[in-house]
Amino acid sequence: MVTLGVTSGIACYKAVDLMRDLQRAGARVRVVLTRSAAELVRPALFEALSGERVGVELWTDWPAGEESEGGYARFPHLDFARGIDAVVVAPATANILGKAAAGLADDLLSTTLVAIDPAETPVVFVPSMNATMYENPAVRANRAVLRERGYALLAPGEGALACGEIGIGRWPGNEFVLAALDRLLNGHGRMAGRRVVVTAGPTQVEIDPVRIVSNRSSGRMGFAVAEACWREGADVVVVHGPTSVGPPPFVRAVAVRTPEEMSAAVREEMEGADQLWMAAAVSDWRPVEAAERKLKKSDWDGILRMEQTEDILARAAVERAPGTTLVGFALETDDVPEAAARKLRAKGCDWLVVNNPREEGAGFEHETNRVFVLGRDGSRTEFDLMSKRELARRLVDLVLDRAAAGAAAER
Ligand code: CTP
Repeated sequence: MVTLGVTSGIACYKAVDLMRDLQRAGARVRVVLTRSAAELVRPALFEALSGERVGVELWTDWPAGEESEGGYARFPHLDFARGIDAVVVAPATANILGKAAAGLADDLLSTTLVAIDPAETPVVFVPSMNATMYENPAVRANRAVLRERGYALLAPGEGALACGEIGIGRWPGNEFVLAALDRLLNGHGRMAGRRVVVTAGPTQVEIDPVRIVSNRSSGRMGFAVAEACWREGADVVVVHGPTSVGPPPFVRAVAVRTPEEMSAAVREEMEGADQLWMAAAVSDWRPVEAAERKLKKSDWDGILRMEQTEDILARAAVERAPGTTLVGFALETDDVPEAAARKLRAKGCDWLVVNNPREEGAGFEHETNRVFVLGRDGSRTEFDLMSKRELARRLVDLVLDRAAAGAAAER
């Protein structure tokens, strides 16, 4: 059974649909609305669809004599807090984050939250609000406090917000809320307690303050790997360049722009990492000198001198701690098998995931990919054309299965 707390973010109309999806996934859902949320979406709607009594007021919700679910008829906040598997607060406003962080209990939902130990019962907040509110230092601090105390918080999506502004704060999508719950309830997957660093997306190098050189990487493959590892219980950080799609909302994301920023972030994050997945399409070249001022058409001869950037993967291969698994990605178009085998050796990684963008449905800007994987152990594994998310799961399976087989062989 899930208690769904709904606060008065504009996205609260989406909570109805989330409730339906939770039910479809097999959960019984009991809803607690704040008073403001009840002004936006009437409790009767949740009541009709959930078939359960909806709570709004701290004291008056149970008619005298009526049996309550948990036997706490006189204490509605306990009734919604006991005998449940999880709490989802969606959408979560800045107000409820602040109240929960401070332990305030002045209405039914906030009191219910105080009556729950997050170490015993998973509580997931799905913040959704205006970008400036989300990034406000007080809200940031409250989010950090909640995380520290064992509450789960999904990161909102980025894009056009209901208020007309653009930024972070969008409802992340029911699918991600369900995935977060699934991991919290059934988690402890094969990578529980492991730390994983994933790089994703393109990087940009500067010609002058307004012009850049970049590539068409969408970030999808890296984000799919990050999600697959997270679903297996790993603690995941994804270091990503500027992408059109956002990182999965439940992993920690470090946004960078240049190869140098990506390199610095990887160096910092790889400490203590069990696996490194380098799916980013890092710029191999950067202008020898970036102009400090915008180049005028008339000032420029059209020749750009470039120098190579640092190979983040190759450096990680040298600097990694013993036992850290390193997975590289390669894009080859010619003499593919030979070039891939050479690259696996040259880069010093344990696995190389190779795709050929000339193949139908593979490579950049596609939802799908078709790859083969070379292992340092001499193995070669072919994968059919499939979605990047499915492929990411299969890649994680491959790496985990071989690691398990290796461990068994050593015993
Ligand atoms: N990579 C990296 N840092 C770079 C360039 C690439 O970490 N500066 C990583 C990518 O994330 C990927 C792998 O190296 O995992 C393969 O990148 P690719 O561009 O195919 O290899 P190159 O070394 O550039 O080889 P070439 O251009 O000769 O094919």
